[in-house]
Amino acid sequence: MTEGVQIIVLPPSRWAEYRALRLRALQESPQAFGSSHAENVDRPDTFWIGRLRDAESGRTPLLFAEDDGRLIGLVGAYVEPDEPDVANIVTVFVMPEYRGRGVGRLLVDAILAEIALWPEIIAARLTVNLLQTAAVATYRQAGFTVVATERNRMGDGELHEELIMERPLTRDA
Ligand SMILES: CC(C)(COP(=O)(O)OP(=O)(O)OC[C@H]1O[C@@H](n2cnc3c(N)ncnc32)[C@H](O)[C@@H]1OP(=O)(O)O)[C@@H](O)C(=O)NCCC(=O)NCCS
Repeated sequence: MTEGVQIIVLPPSRWAEYRALRLRALQESPQAFGSSHAENVDRPDTFWIGRLRDAESGRTPLLFAEDDGRLIGLVGAYVEPDEPDVANIVTVFVMPEYRGRGVGRLLVDAILAEIALWPEIIAARLTVNLLQTAAVATYRQAGFTVVATERNRMGDGELHEELIMERPLTRDA
């Protein structure tokens, strides 16, 4: 069902498409993200260009799902300096009209493969609002298990129960 969908690294010249997709995610699913539409809508162009430049350099990957030239989903990852062996997966989103076809799983698998290229990383971690049942199911299916819970204020301004999920990083021998 994901035929024709490609996972790509977006060139910085396409920053406006990245901005539009990210703002759509924050508007459509405010309870899913720690950041809000209001916090991001007025960011200067240089913010979006800079984020794509960082991704292109491989330091903080950002991968996009593209269908027939249209961006339909994204996923990112970063490593905290004080925990260099864990990659944090963030910004997971698929456009509502493309859901349920395996695109989310494709994105998660792609970012795990990217992270696996870094020899120092031993685990992937993410935090997900308990109410985002499709996201929780996607992560469970990708091998993540719940290691803790915490309450966080999300983009809708409300406090939500979040699951911290992890999975060890396996590499082909
Ligand atoms: C989470 C999200 C990215 C999943 O994208 P998707 O392309 O629909 O996911 P997939 O089609 O790859 O589905 C993967 C698995 O998730 C589960 N799933 C998908 N949609 C589901 C739903 N509505 N309810 C329950 N489980 C669901 C299924 O187990 C599915 O496996 P299956 O194909 O064997 O049934 C998408 O729902 C989304 O963007 N949600 C809003 C943003 C969000 O919650 N982001 C997470 C931030 S941490």
